[in-house]
Amino acid sequence: MTILSPAGAKSQSGSTTKKSFGKTPDGQPADLFVLTNKNGAEVSITNYGGAVVSLKVPDRGGKLADVVLGYDGIDGYVNDKSYFGALVGRYGNRIGHAQFVLDGRTYTLAKNNGENSLHGGVKGFNKAVWTAKTLSKKDGQSLELSYLSKDGEEGFPGNLKVTVTYTWTDANALKIEYSATTDKKTVVNLTNHSYFNLAGQGSGDILGHLMTIEADKFTPVDSGLIPTGELRDVAGTPFDFRNSTAIGARISQDDEQLKLGGGYDHNFVLRRSAGSSETLAARVVEPTSGRVLEVWTTEPGVQFYTGNFLDGKAAGKGGATYPKRSAFCLETQHFPDSPNQPKFPSVALNPGERYHTITTYKFSAEK
Ligand code: GLA
Repeated sequence: MTILSPAGAKSQSGSTTKKSFGKTPDGQPADLFVLTNKNGAEVSITNYGGAVVSLKVPDRGGKLADVVLGYDGIDGYVNDKSYFGALVGRYGNRIGHAQFVLDGRTYTLAKNNGENSLHGGVKGFNKAVWTAKTLSKKDGQSLELSYLSKDGEEGFPGNLKVTVTYTWTDANALKIEYSATTDKKTVVNLTNHSYFNLAGQGSGDILGHLMTIEADKFTPVDSGLIPTGELRDVAGTPFDFRNSTAIGARISQDDEQLKLGGGYDHNFVLRRSAGSSETLAARVVEPTSGRVLEVWTTEPGVQFYTGNFLDGKAAGKGGATYPKRSAFCLETQHFPDSPNQPKFPSVALNPGERYHTITTYKFSAEK
């Protein structure tokens, strides 16, 4: 293990260490970075897929628990099909019929989810080894990850230079800053796919977590989970999380959209227009532990997914198993299938422009 900070006498409040996380099947080494803040709360991140491997935060009595799903070693991430903790790109979520048109040219992607493209394709950013650099900041520890996605990779145009900076602050917040530039017009939609269980990973289902989502509308989907294009009012539907409601309170209702998703697996239209400052997207409370998660973002949407495809077969951390609905995701994003939906906010990136979004997961506890 290497202690990377505090560096010398310029003592910061926390520390970052690095250790080997093993090798990819083609022999590339990957590392695990453990970022600890001044409270002793910590996040560990691997540069394989940029995945958040563990996140230990206190309950109302100060007791730490690991609140994200994951694997003990790199092999789990190499074989993973659930995107545990991963950085997702070049296009997070689905692109209908695995194709899109940009400036009159049709781009064809792999169909890795029925007829559609999901989460960047067969080998998305979650399966790449990223270049890592650690930085010690005044109020936290940072890990900067970069990756060059080559022109034509997974069918997308343009050499895309991506940098994602994770900062673990002394206020128990995980700030994720995404930036990218391209040399050809392309589409970009980056997110993080952490699965949360605020009672602790492997501790059962998340149906009792209380959820608030700052959205008056959501994007209903077809049977392939592609948005129909409609922005539907949440009022009077099981998608109304404007007031804190247990995730499980309505999940089994006889509702067409819940049936199509196998539960919640939908994009919510946040009460904001895309801009440069973060606004609150969602707030989740786990009543037993008192742990609270707030998600803040500059993005216009969030995919609320209730782990409907989890089947308990993956070998989780420390022998944990992850059955259906044992975690939830809040994937901040532009709307699914935006490249084919002219009415949705644009995901196009031109040469000379800089893609830049911020999402922060803030942890606390209430009595
Ligand atoms: C996203 C999708 C889900 C599922 C998961 C990964 O949340 O919307 O349908 O594919 O990723 O399992």
